[in-house]
Order: sequence, then C-alpha cells, then structure tokens
Amino acid sequence: MTVDGKITTRNYTPVDFTSREDKQHLFRQRALADAVLIGHTTLKRDNVRLGVSEDLRQERMARGQTPAPLRVIVSNEGKIDSQLKIFQWEVSKIVIFSTERMPADVRAALAGKATLHLTKSRNVDLADMLRILRRDYKVRRAACEGGPTLFRSMLEHGLIDELSLTIAPYLFGGAVAPTLTGASKEFLPASVRCVMKDMRVIGDECFLTYRIKSEKG
Ligand SMILES: NC(=O)c1ccc[n+]([C@@H]2O[C@H](COP(=O)([O-])OP(=O)(O)OC[C@H]3O[C@@H](n4cnc5c(N)ncnc54)[C@H](OP(=O)(O)O)[C@@H]3O)[C@@H](O)[C@H]2O)c1
Repeated sequence: MTVDGKITTRNYTPVDFTSREDKQHLFRQRALADAVLIGHTTLKRDNVRLGVSEDLRQERMARGQTPAPLRVIVSNEGKIDSQLKIFQWEVSKIVIFSTERMPADVRAALAGKATLHLTKSRNVDLADMLRILRRDYKVRRAACEGGPTLFRSMLEHGLIDELSLTIAPYLFGGAVAPTLTGASKEFLPASVRCVMKDMRVIGDECFLTYRIKSEKG
C-alpha cells in the first residue's frame, strides 16, 4: 500500500507502484503456501495466473510441498470468465468457492478447468471454505492475496493470523480509492490488534509482518 494506505486508485486500475523486491517478496510468500486465495475482482482486473517461478518451484519440492500452490478463487455471484489467464496456465489445480447463483453457462465453461464448490447460501462461508481446503486438499497454510474486500471479510471472521504489508513510497490521496480493508465507509465490527513480528527496510520500501491477535488474545 501507499504511505497514505491506498492499495489502488479510485478506478481500481492495476497499478504498478512497488519495486521488484516487493514482487519477489509476494512470490516468496505465495510459494510458502499450500493454497493461494484471490477475490474475483482482483482476478478479473489484474488477470493474474498465480504461478510460481522455477526456482521457487524447486524450493517447494525440496520442502516436500507440491510444485505450486493450489489456486483458489472466491466469488459470490460466480460470473467468472473462463478465458482469464489463470485458466490457460496449468501450473496447479484451480478451486472455485462460489454459490449456486453461478450461471449455468459459466459452470459449463469452467468444467474441466476448475473444481467448483457451490453453496446454496447467498454468500460463501469463508470458515467453511478453509475447513474444506484443509480436509479435502490438505491445505495447512493459505495465503490470501486480496483484494481488500476478500481480506476484510476474512478479517471480520477472524480468519487471518498474519499480515504481510509493504509500504511503498507514494501518496495517492482520494477518499474513494480503497485502503487495505476496502472502500467501505463502515468501521470493522471491532478494532483488530496487530503485533509486529518483523520490519525490514529495503530502499524506500518498508516490509512489515504482523501477527493478528485473535479476539481471545
Ligand atoms: N495493492 C495490492 O497489494 C492489491 C492486492 C490485491 C488487489 N488489489 C487491487 O484491489 C482491487 C480490487 O479490490 P476488491 O476489494 O474489489 O477486490 P476483491 O476482494 O479481489 O474482489 C471482490 C469480489 O470478490 C468476491 N468476494 C470477496 N469477498 C468475498 C466473500 N467473503 N465471499 C464471496 N466472494 C467474495 C466477490 O466476487 P463476486 O462479485 O464475483 O461475487 C467480490 O465482489 C483491484 O484493483 C486490485 O488491483 C491490490
């Protein structure tokens, strides 16, 4: 995020405002995980593949992990475009958590490209999603790469235990540009306490790691 806490511009355009080091940091975090989670808008806007480089792949295999993390897409409405880059790249399995609102033509287009978990409820139950990932896919460490709407939901449900945050040397301004917890004007149901685990400064960027304190402390 920027110095003033913005994670993108008000138009939600893909913005490239962090260094190469920050990108490597993101890829290293991703490669440590058994699954990488992404919200539908970030997937659409950034059109990411969520893969890992050959070096990180080798490191994963040396640690006894699968070559690449499971890729998990979260969407309530389920109107996911099967032509997105993620579906053209067979680096690891893709799992989609959505609802029965997902249109039939989308389900047909995604068949063979992803495993669908569709709930009858209006919204995806994120805690249940993590339980399924653990039980059916042996996921012990999941890395959520945002965006802010998904991150905020996970935070509100007490499902985040660690936060990796890079402060990039820019100020964007703009009341409607989203912060880390999105564009909502609402407060979180309760303040979330963060405990700093690590801080590194490289160039003009600050790399922070926080432990998120559970409500029980
Ligand atoms: N600077 C950064 O590090 C960073 C990181 C990530 C993203 N971004 C930026 O963030 C922007 C997108 O922000 P955003 O908040 O709109 O993104 P988002 O969280 O990726 O996407 C929101 C969408 O994801 C689905 N979703 C989110 N939470 C859900 C939940 N609890 N249950 C079910 N589905 C859920 C919904 O999809 P449906 O509409 O399909 O129901 C929702 O509309 C992009 O511009 C991206 O570039 C920046």
